[in-house]
This record gives sequence, structure tokens and C-alpha cells, in this order.
Amino acid sequence: MTLPAARPRRRLAVLLSGRGSNFEAIADAVESGRIENAEIAAVISDVGEAPGLARARQRGLPAHAVDRREIPGRAERERRMLDILERVRPDLICLAGYMRVLSPAFVAKYRGRILNIHPALLPAYPGLHAQRQALEGGEKLSGCTVHFVDEGTDTGPIVLQRTVPVLPGDTEETLAARILEQEHIAYPQAISRVLDSLE
Ligand code: GRF
Repeated sequence: MTLPAARPRRRLAVLLSGRGSNFEAIADAVESGRIENAEIAAVISDVGEAPGLARARQRGLPAHAVDRREIPGRAERERRMLDILERVRPDLICLAGYMRVLSPAFVAKYRGRILNIHPALLPAYPGLHAQRQALEGGEKLSGCTVHFVDEGTDTGPIVLQRTVPVLPGDTEETLAARILEQEHIAYPQAISRVLDSLE
């Protein structure tokens, strides 16, 4: 009797620039099996001292710095990131607080296989300071969006959204914290869904 061949693990690459709480939510979901049959094959940061990169190292994950202070040009930084990705062969690239826009050439290379999370209900409030923009816009509802990355800033097709209320007296910080809790649920769910659809 021959046993069915085990399915190869789906490979994730995470790109980040800062704190890394979404990366940790993804890593926890991979460890617990909520993202099934997957592994984090690389964590790449354009900020060498990003706390998220340190957290990746603490978890024993392959962590790569492509530091924008050492390599100031986007083209050269992306070339090095693409070299790493070529070796790693990810099924999906997850931007988790990666604070640069990817070039059209980068996006073209991995089209349909790059996700981003944004702290607003896109298409409303793309770009920086989304929570502040939502407060200034007088919104009663906000939330987060996981979407495919295209050439624009926070413009690609939406995978899923989760909402939160905007409460009286909210500041940018209180709203951001309420949204962040939902980000940590939304991103692993979206990754699972997209990985399953790739098979
Ligand atoms: C999150 O709010 C995410 O939506 C945005 O950048 C922030 C990253 O936070 N793109 P963290 O580094 O994952 O904690």
C-alpha cells in the first residue's frame, strides 16, 4: 500500500519595517495551525533595528535586514530583497507594517501573491495616518482591510475587512489600538483563505 504524498508546506515571507505585532499574529497562527500546513520561510526588514526583526530572530526564524540606511536606493534594496525571495520561493508575501511602496517591477514579479494590511476600511483613507484621517472624517465606523498589493498605494483587490466602532472621545491612539486587535484576527484569516485559493 502506498501512502498519499504529504502536501508540501506553504511558504510565507513577511516584510516589515517596525514593531511587528502583525508578524507575531501570523507567526502564532502558523505555530498553532490556524494557518494550516504553512511555515514562515523568511522575515525581511528594510529597517535593521526593527523590533519585528528581533522578534523573528527570537523565534528562530530566518531574518534578513536590507537596511535602507545602508542601501538608500529603492532599486538596489529591492534587488537584494528579490534575491532573498528567489532563494526562499514563497507562495505568499505578507507586508506587515512594511512602510515603503513596492516598485511596479516587484509587484509584477509576484502579482496576486502579495498581501498588505491597512488600518482603515479601504478604499477610504489609504496612505499614512489612516486612523487620524478616519477621526477627522467624522466616521462612526472604522476597521482594517487585508488586500492584494498592486502598483498603487493601498489600492489592490480586497480579501477581507473587519470593522470597529469609532467611540466618542477616541484619540488616534485609542482607535489604532482597537483596530490593531482586529488586524491580528484578520491577517491570519486572510492568509489562510488566500493560501487555500492558490492550491
Ligand atoms: C499596522 O497598523 C498595519 O495596519 C499598518 O502598519 C501597522 C503595523 O503594525 N500597515 P505592526 O508593525 O504589525 O505592529
